Amino acid sequence: MSMFSHENIKFDVLKERAYNMRWAEVEEGIIPLTSADLDFPVAPEIVEDLIDYIKEGYFSYTPKLGLPKCKQSIANALKRRKNVNVNPELVLPIDSVARGMFIIAEAVLSPGDEVIVFDPVDYLFKESVVVAGATPVLYPIELDVQGNIRLDKLEDYITEKTKMICFCNPHNPLGKLYPMKDLDGLLKLAEKYDLWIMNDEIWSDIVYEGEKFNSLLELGNERNKKTISVYGFSKSFGIAGLRAGCIYVQDEEIFKKIVDKAHVISTAGGITSLSQIAIIACMDKCYYWLDEFMKHLEKNRDYALERINAMPKISCNKPQATFLLFPDIRETGMDSDSFVKYLKDEHQLLIVPGSSDFFGPGSEGHVRITFSTSFEILKEGLDRLENALKALNK
Ligand SMILES: Cc1ncc(COP(=O)(O)O)c(C=O)c1O
Repeated sequence: MSMFSHENIKFDVLKERAYNMRWAEVEEGIIPLTSADLDFPVAPEIVEDLIDYIKEGYFSYTPKLGLPKCKQSIANALKRRKNVNVNPELVLPIDSVARGMFIIAEAVLSPGDEVIVFDPVDYLFKESVVVAGATPVLYPIELDVQGNIRLDKLEDYITEKTKMICFCNPHNPLGKLYPMKDLDGLLKLAEKYDLWIMNDEIWSDIVYEGEKFNSLLELGNERNKKTISVYGFSKSFGIAGLRAGCIYVQDEEIFKKIVDKAHVISTAGGITSLSQIAIIACMDKCYYWLDEFMKHLEKNRDYALERINAMPKISCNKPQATFLLFPDIRETGMDSDSFVKYLKDEHQLLIVPGSSDFFGPGSEGHVRITFSTSFEILKEGLDRLENALKALNK
């Protein structure tokens, strides 16, 4: 049985454990293709290493700045997989990427500061900026002729109050990557106006065959002194509930500020021992599993795209990365919230609306579909979508 076959999914367990708009929260019969989480169990090595650790019966305090082995494993994997040089001493394992984003915002922002947030993008960017008392300034995304997200208009949104740019690479929900020359342009802009960059690379492992992920950090540590990166394991290794992520920087001064705002020295904040054991297993042993997962995702992506683009009143771009589709539904004449409600109430399919709450006002007229499930569930979900769209045509 393949690790990513339908038979390998334990729906009874998902119905008890998978929250955040997923199986445990939906009524019987509804298929959720919603939050970016996996329907498959994790790699066996993660389970085995956790069991070995648990068996000893000790859950003592861990080093405040993270287990050295965990920091080193993350740095090794970043070098091996992404050609990025990170000093393990400047890696802080933390309880989720979401938390990391809030820590970064708190570490560098003050009330009155402005921060550029792309529109659309995952809601966590705006949320973290607002919680830190700063003001998000939305940058409406436009694509260039190659289909890349344009960064050349960013400068128009910079004022004397601008303190940081939030950067989602790869981009959720558009599934876009950035060419190196655009990353160079972004760093030049940040250098010119002395801006911080919140660099979220949580999706950087979910990149399809023939595409290339480029990191800002490949442009050298010297140029990235004001880049604060977050990276995590929820999307690529399925451990969202373990709340595991990390922050890394190129500069000791900013590392100290991050540590301060993470409240790890007082032990009021921080990541659990078990989560760090899981991270080590992911980084040291589970990339083979991720490579297999990518093959499965690629099949799902190609199938879903072909199906959706043959349906009436909907169209979808091909994601280069992520396991998310972000189709345009404007031809239905419905707004995203009404369309999602119609799908759920009348066709038993739950997806995420493109609305201000989730991705910003620029996402209106779109919906997000997550395809990190079995081929069979995806097919059934798409059948329901197709029926719903055809019913609108009648
Ligand atoms: C761009 C982005 N950042 C952060 C997160 C949150 O990740 P975590 O589960 O580690 O908090 C997500 C989850 O979907 C995401 O898409």
